[in-house]
Amino acid sequence: MARRFRSRDWFDDPERLDMVAIYLERFMNYGLTLGELASGKPIIGIAQTGSDLTPCNRVHLETAKRVREGIRDAGGIPIEFPVHPIFENCRRPTAALDRNLAYLGLVEILHGYPIDAVVLTTGCDKTTPAQVMAASTVDLPAIVLSGGPMLDGWHGGELVGSGTVIWRARRKLAAGEIDAQEFLEAAAASAPSLGHCNTMGTASTMNAVAEALGLSLPGCAAIPAPYRERAQMAYATGRRIVEMAHEDLVPSKILTRRAFLNAIATIAAIGGSTNGQPHLVAMARHAGVELAPEDWMEYGRDVPLIVNMQPAGLYLGERFHRAGGVPAVLCELLRAGRIDGQVPTVTGRTLAENIEGRVSNDREMIAAYETPLQEQAGFLVLRGNLFDFAIMKTSVISEDFRKRFLAGTEAFECRAVVFDGSDDYHARINDPALGIDERTLLVIRGAGPLAWPGSAEVVNMQPPDALLKRGITSLPTLGDGRQSGTSDSPSILNASPESAAGGGLAWLRTGDIVRIDLAAGRCDMLVPESEIARRAAEGPPPVPASATPWQELYRTTVGQLDGGAVMEMALKYRGVCGTTPRH
Ligand code: FES
Ligand code: MG
Repeated sequence: MARRFRSRDWFDDPERLDMVAIYLERFMNYGLTLGELASGKPIIGIAQTGSDLTPCNRVHLETAKRVREGIRDAGGIPIEFPVHPIFENCRRPTAALDRNLAYLGLVEILHGYPIDAVVLTTGCDKTTPAQVMAASTVDLPAIVLSGGPMLDGWHGGELVGSGTVIWRARRKLAAGEIDAQEFLEAAAASAPSLGHCNTMGTASTMNAVAEALGLSLPGCAAIPAPYRERAQMAYATGRRIVEMAHEDLVPSKILTRRAFLNAIATIAAIGGSTNGQPHLVAMARHAGVELAPEDWMEYGRDVPLIVNMQPAGLYLGERFHRAGGVPAVLCELLRAGRIDGQVPTVTGRTLAENIEGRVSNDREMIAAYETPLQEQAGFLVLRGNLFDFAIMKTSVISEDFRKRFLAGTEAFECRAVVFDGSDDYHARINDPALGIDERTLLVIRGAGPLAWPGSAEVVNMQPPDALLKRGITSLPTLGDGRQSGTSDSPSILNASPESAAGGGLAWLRTGDIVRIDLAAGRCDMLVPESEIARRAAEGPPPVPASATPWQELYRTTVGQLDGGAVMEMALKYRGVCGTTPRH
């Protein structure tokens, strides 16, 4: 017998004809008919994230048309609606505030309206986790449609990747090698078309993660936004979600612990963004799966880098797609026994079945597991008296940095210079009185979820201009904020708990010596306990007041980055669409 969809509770309730009439008439006012709405066909939501405010996802204004056609052809009724915009590069004080807000809004839409299944249109960094988190909370059939990266950027005969070009060009600007005009030209050249960041930044990482989790059709993540295959993928996705509605293939059947462990290995192999850590943990926790710090070490650390994409490597999104994209990466990981191929996916088949035969056809771009670009590409997890949890992305560490700090040993001691937020950093970084040299550790605090608020991408601090002019392009950095996924900075970041929550960073002072032991996974300030206690009595550094109602609400609900900075109170609502709200 055909399923009775939850939308029938709106459109087919003989006891409450008054309500049914009210629900129906306004959908009909733009041309839908009673026959369609009362047909018993599934109503498929298209969660539209594209808008003029989210340029990275703007391609979805077009892809949604093909999604609709796919839904129609498969016997569903499409209903498109907006998702709260999230534009990573523009939202002040940080787009991190919007992930939980978009999550919250999408949960309310999917719970409160007659929607039976949903297509999640993803792209810019947080648009993927926000919607996947919501899909788990409501537990309606859901499928991810990525928007895809921009075309490759070229400038002066070189590939220039979004974000990464900024971090590199600002070092040249500070060193006096380029002027402001050249800086802007290089930045614009990195963004030549519709699409999200074309580097392996947070956007490409999170879309790859969605595919590795089994939430999108195989090959979806990497297709560049302007390619014809993108529109074809949109059509196929629209068709498939209708079948998923009939099969009741809900996220809780796909988002198992095994799926998340597969994603950890995938993030390592692609040289993925450090933002992958809080977002994956957030998606896992909303799916009822706990990921421990040890899981990153056990399932990710020893996985080699096999994708040659900026910032860890050389190339950009177009070549990654042509080489085989995410299925080709998963093929390598499966062959090496690093992922579980038996996990279910949105196709109704296993991950292994989805990717069969889709091996890399370009070993310069996607290397074989046995001959990687680098060993041990997974995040290094650290702890110590400065924090309980922090990560380091070692795959981006330059040869020069390795020589300066890691030659012969994985432990080093350095003098800390501490900044309270990014304004303080910008005001003082070039002050000679700080005595910053090539052995200094730059520390930034007041950048976590509570302090900023939202947690800021500020830990990838560049050295003072004087050092840049001498060719010292990076110093070790440490902070309770995040850093852009497109950054190649050797940073210890996402430190939890943050200074504003009484984490050890709050008690660090400029001039203190910090010992970092990468082999032991330790990071400690060499300050006597009694002195730490004395400083702690002074209390943590102050944070700015909330500027909007949401900032205040965000602060009262958010956890730390080690726990994904989710709204802790929201976790208990998983499966909320199992009940339909009253009339
Ligand atoms: Fe939106 Fe990078 S800024 S994808
Ligand atoms: Mg970012």
